[in-house]
Amino acid sequence: MSELLTISEVSRRSGVAASALRYYEERELITSERAGSGHRRYPRSVLRRIAFIVFAQRIGLTLEEIGTELARLPPDRAPSRRDWSRLSRGWTARIEERIAELERLKAGLTECIGCGCLSLDRCKLANPGDRAARLGPGPRYWIGDRPTG
Ligand code: FES
Repeated sequence: MSELLTISEVSRRSGVAASALRYYEERELITSERAGSGHRRYPRSVLRRIAFIVFAQRIGLTLEEIGTELARLPPDRAPSRRDWSRLSRGWTARIEERIAELERLKAGLTECIGCGCLSLDRCKLANPGDRAARLGPGPRYWIGDRPTG
């Protein structure tokens, strides 16, 4: 098995588009070497880094936060299992938040699909006069804010 992979091999194996891999590299989340032809070559260990990035994005970390986390890995050797588990230790709270958010979305959808009442008292979709905008951007009631008077 070759130790250095082309960008297409990495893309195929990781399921991440080559354009996204180039973007990760621009953001210094992953690194490659240049072959004599000038094409990118990645060490096989990059696959684990990419898996980390994809998972971290799924639980809501920004690329900047992911960069900060990855910078804690040892620069001079392949990260060990212990190094990786140290990084993910702080994720429990993020995962719990994400689960709670998904539960709220699920509850909102279950209530509203096929209902259509848009009741001001109980519907998470009802937002007369866009009062929710005062609480910040995004679907405020669905992410847990309550309507204010
Ligand atoms: S439409 Fe009836 S509760 Fe949302």
